[in-house]
Amino acid sequence: MQLEVKGLKSGYGKVQILHGIDLIAPAGEITAVLGPNGAGKSTLMKTIAGHLPVMAGEIRYRGNSLVGHTALSICKEGIAYVPQERNVFSELTVRDNLSASALAFEGAGERIDEVLRRFPILAERSNQLASTLSGGERQTLSIALALVAGPDLLILDEPTAGLAPIFVDRIVSWVRELVQDGMGVIWVVEQNPEKILAISGTAYVIDAGRNSDTVAARSLLEPGRLEEVLLQVHN
Ligand SMILES: Nc1ncnc2c1ncn2[C@@H]1O[C@H](COP(=O)(O)OP(=O)(O)O)[C@@H](O)[C@H]1O
Ligand SMILES: [Mg+2]
Repeated sequence: MQLEVKGLKSGYGKVQILHGIDLIAPAGEITAVLGPNGAGKSTLMKTIAGHLPVMAGEIRYRGNSLVGHTALSICKEGIAYVPQERNVFSELTVRDNLSASALAFEGAGERIDEVLRRFPILAERSNQLASTLSGGERQTLSIALALVAGPDLLILDEPTAGLAPIFVDRIVSWVRELVQDGMGVIWVVEQNPEKILAISGTAYVIDAGRNSDTVAARSLLEPGRLEEVLLQVHN
């Protein structure tokens, strides 16, 4: 498998949030992560991406430990992280955003045109300031910035939250293409997860910093099943 998390503990300073999380994310597949607000989903993604230190446990990528690696080094090893906050450089144009992101990665300059081909909406707006983009366009840019690094595992933290349905559909279909090309994806899903669960492999339900359930994502599409799995948390 591509990524393996075992007994992961982490948090903020002395405040421990994750109390031993297990997760496996294979290549060429979407692995879904869901759970109530405050469960620790974003904390888990930040820790995998190297933005928070590991307190205990293991994160292995293609068999090698990532524990203690910096965020930049993890990115160079092939894991790109799109945070929930949709970070872009507001004062730069779309193209300059991509160029800035490319600076840190060898050969990334050549990927800019490839990324613009993949996201025509960004190509159309390549000379526009990022601050003038709509929410959906900004989210597309933040995914594009991650792809410029040339990852083979993409971490998306609630990428479709609050977006118009047309952008939800676009992001789902772009991610589908990436997965068909062999990319692994960890997708933290939001309130209306049906479209994502339908194309995901395993779904991990997280609650209070622990694994609460691990199921085939599609099984959550059976009537009532999602509510059942989410309600059983805290019990
Ligand atoms: N920067 C921070 N400092 C301290 N605690 C935080 C910080 N960010 C999040 N937390 C806490 O960590 C817990 C998990 O948050 P988070 O991982 O964002 O949950 P989720 O993404 O599942 O909604 C929450 O109790 C939250 O208040
Ligand atoms: Mg979150």
